[in-house]
Amino acid sequence: MTSNARTPVIAGNWKMNNTREQARELVSALAPQVKGLSGVEVCVCPPFTALEAAKAAIGDSGIALGAQNVFWEEKGAWTSQVSPDMLLDAGCKYAIIGHSETRGRFGTVDETLATRLAYFGETDQTINAKAHFIMGKGLLPIICCGEMIDERKAGKTDEIVSGQIKACLAGLSAEQVAALVIAYEPVWAIGTGEVCESEEANRVCGVIRETVRGAFGDSAADAVRILYGGSMNDKNAAELLAKPHIDGGLVGGAALKADSFATICKAAAA
Ligand code: PGA
Repeated sequence: MTSNARTPVIAGNWKMNNTREQARELVSALAPQVKGLSGVEVCVCPPFTALEAAKAAIGDSGIALGAQNVFWEEKGAWTSQVSPDMLLDAGCKYAIIGHSETRGRFGTVDETLATRLAYFGETDQTINAKAHFIMGKGLLPIICCGEMIDERKAGKTDEIVSGQIKACLAGLSAEQVAALVIAYEPVWAIGTGEVCESEEANRVCGVIRETVRGAFGDSAADAVRILYGGSMNDKNAAELLAKPHIDGGLVGGAALKADSFATICKAAAA
C-alpha cells in the first residue's frame, strides 16, 4: 500500500503560544486558505485556554481541533489536569501525547542540558495509559516518539523509536492502532531549524510502520498515519511529504503563521 491510501494529517502544535485573541486571528487567517482542500486533514492544537476561541474561528472550514495533552482519569482530584471529556466538550478530535517536551524527568531542571527540555514526566507507560483511556472515550491520540541526539550518534535510533512505539501502543487493539496517529519527531530536529533529511525521516517512519506490523498486523500498519515533526516548514514540507511512509506533519514554529502553515497543508494535499 502506498501513502496515497492514507489521508495525510497536518497538525499545528502551537505549544505555549497565543492568547484567545491571537488564536482567533490565526485561525481566521488560516481557515479560508485551507477550506475545501481535499486529500488532507488539517488540525490545530492550541493551548487549553485558546481551544474555545480557536473552535469558534474554525467555523465550517473543516479544520480539526486538537489539544496538547490529556490525562487518563475521568475526573476528580488531579490538580492541573484535563480529561478527555473536557477536550471532547471543547470540540477536540485529537490530543497530542508523548511529545518530547512533556516526556522526561518530573520536577527536575537539568542545568547541564543546553536547553531546558522535557520536565513534565511523561513516560512510555503513562503515554500508554493515556492512549487506552482517551481512545475509549473517542478522542484520538497523536503519539510522539523520537530519539535524542546522543542516541542517534550511538546508532540506537531504530531501537529507541521501536521500543517507544511498542510500549506506547501495548494492549491496544489493531483497530485502535489503525485509527490513531503517530508522529516521528527526532528530538534534535525540534525547534532547531535542523530538519531530518527526507530519506532518513522516511526510513525511520518505515521502521515504525514495520514495528506496528509486527505487533498489530498488516491492516493496522497500512492504515496508521505516521507524521514527521521537527523543523518542518513551507520550504521543506513538499519533499518530506512526498515520501511514501510520511503521512503528514506535526508542525511547531511554522504553524504559528497562517501563510506558512497553509503552504504546508497545500503541499500535503497535492
Ligand atoms: P518545530 O516543532 O516544528 O518547531 O520543530 C515541532 C514539534 O515540536 O512538534
